[in-house]
Amino acid sequence: MKVLIVFGTRPEAIKMAPIVKEMEKDPNFQPVVAVTGQHRQMLDQVLEIFQIEPDYDLDIFKPGQSLTYITSGALEGLEGIISMENPDCLLIQGDTTTVFSGALAAFYQQVRIGHVEAGLRTGNLYSPYPEEANRRLVSVLTHWHFAPTEKNRENLLKEGHREESIFLTGNTVIDALKYTVDPDYQFEEDLLNRLDYDKKKIILLTSHRRENLGKPMEEIFSAVRDLVDQDEDVEVVFPRHKNPRVRELSDPFFKGHDRIHCLEPLDYLPFTNLMSRCYFVITDSGGIQEEAPALGKPVLVVRRETERPEGIEAGTAKLVGTEKDRIVAAGRELLENPEAYKKMAHAVNPYGDGHAAKKICQALLRG
Ligand code: UD1
Ligand code: UDP
Repeated sequence: MKVLIVFGTRPEAIKMAPIVKEMEKDPNFQPVVAVTGQHRQMLDQVLEIFQIEPDYDLDIFKPGQSLTYITSGALEGLEGIISMENPDCLLIQGDTTTVFSGALAAFYQQVRIGHVEAGLRTGNLYSPYPEEANRRLVSVLTHWHFAPTEKNRENLLKEGHREESIFLTGNTVIDALKYTVDPDYQFEEDLLNRLDYDKKKIILLTSHRRENLGKPMEEIFSAVRDLVDQDEDVEVVFPRHKNPRVRELSDPFFKGHDRIHCLEPLDYLPFTNLMSRCYFVITDSGGIQEEAPALGKPVLVVRRETERPEGIEAGTAKLVGTEKDRIVAAGRELLENPEAYKKMAHAVNPYGDGHAAKKICQALLRG
């Protein structure tokens, strides 16, 4: 089976890597990897770690790119690749603009689509924006829906998708995570080796969602600043997304603070190892909401809605919104109340057993 695997951003690459690796060792598959290059540095970091050399690289990235620019660049570039390769199916992962363009390009040439991480929904078309729309649009065009959880499967059934087209697989993010965390891991960034993870309370922070750019992000950063200023044992590590707006918005709250460490985006290995050592996580990321429960780390989700309720139901994640007071209150509770902390800090795996890639490959072969 010739499978054209299309991805373009950091999280898609991390979650697609276990499938590429699985197909490379299975003679039933001929995987062809095409990256759009929606992300550049942040994508290349992942390709290097998983030693994936794309067969095609559209290299569309430009700073300040608009959604229309990404969509049309990827759509046009993929048209040529699909014509040349004539694959049996096209595989996409998640909900980015690359994913939507990939699905549309395949549909235009009547190539069957496999959608990895299908069926996630918040119910609000504008949150996350534009990802919720991308997911729904892609589902309409998809032949194989690979749902990570039972809830995701139910969402697809409710929308009228056929039961036989939905496969419950778990999320490949757990497949990837299995190989990364090592208690003896040494960071290249020496600051991360020097932090006292036992005596200090290290908070790992990330934020990049489009709908949070502006006032919501200012509230998040202001809350984090308060948490640090109120307790001398608290330190924050903030690997900042490459989006310059994230830097502009965070600098006024964090610049020059000796217990808030703003870093460049970390490679996947240091990032997951840092997550496994930190005290808790504050994030608006999708993937990190899936990884933190598996590592037993409490997560405060700084968004208004989440399409990943499983971590909340399991007790490891809390949806705290983007208002400063609520974030500070939730943070202080974790910092000051050991019982509340213990209740959240337990490892659970609502997002899979680490064998999602294999299950996806088996389903594809069944046709
Ligand atoms: C994209 C996805 C989002 C996903 C996120 C993962 C869309 C619409 N959004 O958002 O779903 O959660 O990736 O991180 O598909 N930049 C760089 N170098 C990079 C990457 C980004 O400089 O390697 C900067 C550029 O200035 C770029 C900006 O970040 O214009 C935003 O990148 P973009 O891919 O448009 O959206 P993300 O916010 O990264
Ligand atoms: N990640 C990383 N380095 C970082 C921050 C995140 O490797 O500095 C990884 C993280 O482990 C997760 C993925 O990137 O697997 C999440 O990506 P992101 O938050 O950018 O996107 P989302 O999941 O929200 O789409």
